Amino acid sequence: MTSAAAQRIASLRTEIERHNHAYYVLDAPAIPDAEYDKLFRELQGLEEKHPELLSADSPTQRVGGKVLDGFAPVRHAVPMLSIRTETDTEDSGAFNFDTRVRNALGSPDDNIEYACELKFDGLAINLRYQGGVLVQAATRGDGETGEDVTQNVRTIHCIPLHLNDCDAEVLEVRGEVYMSRRDFNRYNDKQRAQGLPTLVNPRNGAAGSIRQLDPALAARRPLSFFAYGLGEVQGWALPATHSAILDALQSFGMPVCADRAVVQGAAALAAFHAAISAKRDALPFDIDGVVYKVNSLNLQDELGFVSREPRWAVAHKYPAEEQLTVVRDIEIQVGRTGKLTPVAKLEPVFVGGTTVSNATLHNADEIRRKDVHIGDTVIVRRAGDVIPEVVGVLAERRPAGARAFVMPDICPVCASRVVREEGEVDARCTGGLFCAAQRKQAILHFAGRRAMDIEGLGDKLVEQLVDEGIIHSLSDLYRLDEATLAALERMAEKSAQNIVAALQKSRNTTLNRFLFALGIRHVGESTAKDLARHFGKLDAIIQADAERLLAVPDVGPVVAQSIVDFFSEAHNIEVVQQLRDLGVQWQEHDGVSTEPLPLSGKTFVLTGTLASLGRDEAKSRLEALGAKVAGSVSKKTDYVVAGAEAGSKLEKARELNVPVWDEQKLLDQLQECEKA
Ligand code: IVH
Repeated sequence: MTSAAAQRIASLRTEIERHNHAYYVLDAPAIPDAEYDKLFRELQGLEEKHPELLSADSPTQRVGGKVLDGFAPVRHAVPMLSIRTETDTEDSGAFNFDTRVRNALGSPDDNIEYACELKFDGLAINLRYQGGVLVQAATRGDGETGEDVTQNVRTIHCIPLHLNDCDAEVLEVRGEVYMSRRDFNRYNDKQRAQGLPTLVNPRNGAAGSIRQLDPALAARRPLSFFAYGLGEVQGWALPATHSAILDALQSFGMPVCADRAVVQGAAALAAFHAAISAKRDALPFDIDGVVYKVNSLNLQDELGFVSREPRWAVAHKYPAEEQLTVVRDIEIQVGRTGKLTPVAKLEPVFVGGTTVSNATLHNADEIRRKDVHIGDTVIVRRAGDVIPEVVGVLAERRPAGARAFVMPDICPVCASRVVREEGEVDARCTGGLFCAAQRKQAILHFAGRRAMDIEGLGDKLVEQLVDEGIIHSLSDLYRLDEATLAALERMAEKSAQNIVAALQKSRNTTLNRFLFALGIRHVGESTAKDLARHFGKLDAIIQADAERLLAVPDVGPVVAQSIVDFFSEAHNIEVVQQLRDLGVQWQEHDGVSTEPLPLSGKTFVLTGTLASLGRDEAKSRLEALGAKVAGSVSKKTDYVVAGAEAGSKLEKARELNVPVWDEQKLLDQLQECEKA
């Protein structure tokens, strides 16, 4: 019966939209992906069977089919204006704006109410909803006429295809399409690993995707959206303030950024500017400033416009996250596993709030693709807490003497051969622990908290120890005495004692920590645990061939080969023997036991931010103890671990009476079980 199908289709659409909203807007998925997929497939199936019931606002219709020839022009019913910018980074931006507003209103003493928002660094878009259904999306263009990009905008999951409880005849929502830093970095990492071109910055990523003629390609680029205003409105009673408009949009299911405030007076504007500046690096997306808007719509009307800019709004900028500078040289940095990273030595430049004089160039292919020469003027980007990078070259500014970069074929630190394995983008030094750069990194890794946990052995000290020739190999660490340490520059006697004590303490360890500490390529903490559990004895691992290693859960051919390679190097075996001779020890056992692991059969769900552990580590440690870590809470969940800002999963746990642990409890339990 079609009517039963129609009902089911309607209810599936509502439910799927609800889950989309929870996932993409609230960032708090309510059901596992597999459940979602089931609903989605059921809807697709029904729509195929009943094509007459298909409608454009169905969640199955986000990705359209046809490649376009171009974008049709769209004349904006209400022009899309720009706002005046205060470029200074001082408070005067806030005070100047407030003074202009009060003068224009002829109310010099008033404490004007302002809505403060972020200035998102993306692409302005107008979304037109009729009767609550998204009918058109257009770019700003010249402000009067933009381009019809409906097909691509529909692929942005956080943009509702229809609004909740809003059947306004016409409601145009304006806002910014952007690419989050995480999505941008992931996209670029993936591209780089395949030797494909990368995006210059998230803004170009967003703009490029929106103007992509093939909607399937556009859909591959992950975009997001924040609403910040309105265009044409018919059949909807406007609230009295801008902040109330944003509240209403949020209740319709529109993504509205939570970092906003309603304040009074200039000092509070300046305080908002400062508060956001302090957290700018930690935001998940790029911003280039904040925006102040007079909150009352009546006052906005009264203030009106000057030369196509509203008098009631201003953008107060931050220092740019991209700057031009000159590459003085390209040097090579050698990492722990021998990876050679070319680093641009720059004419120091103030970018993203700090002075930058080094920027990564990633690898040789990337340099070739971007065509970076020594002497070039380049664009440097530093956004968030990622390492600054060179994102592009101004070819027309290349000086006559510019030099191309050549990846050296011997290591600049230890003169060992440099190789680039087939299918790999990275060049590597083959020197291993013979290479001072790798040695420094290897020692730091060895001493790390999750490895041998040698407290006080930081990078400054390791640098000194290696550079002064005191430490040549890992085992030399355990030959250090107080006198040698105390003789070092900037080393107090007490610190020397502490380090010797920390070294002593670290001699008693576990096989898995020791294995992890050796820094074998591809052997992370959890693989080290699997190996220790499976073999029980170090010598058994040293003697194992690839085939026997493959019997360990989660060990694949690449990992197995890397272990075999490591232990086939005589000097690695020697270092291990020396460490043992110097008193490094652990308990051994006979290998795979048939006993179940301490957490076998238990299912955990992790939610919220785990500040000290991080979710990845929590997950791998739980799994190493035999637990299953699931994505959503159900009756089958044994424990929920809730970190800071846990949301719907925590609620669900309480509903179902599932025991909830905080991070400390988890840490205690993990330690307990790992000892066992
Ligand atoms: S309001 C009439 N609010 O900045 C006022 N714009 O020149 C219209 N932008 O390209 C703009 N974040 O896309 C407004 N919170 C925000 C914004 C914002 C970013 C962009 C906008 C436009 C430019 C304004």
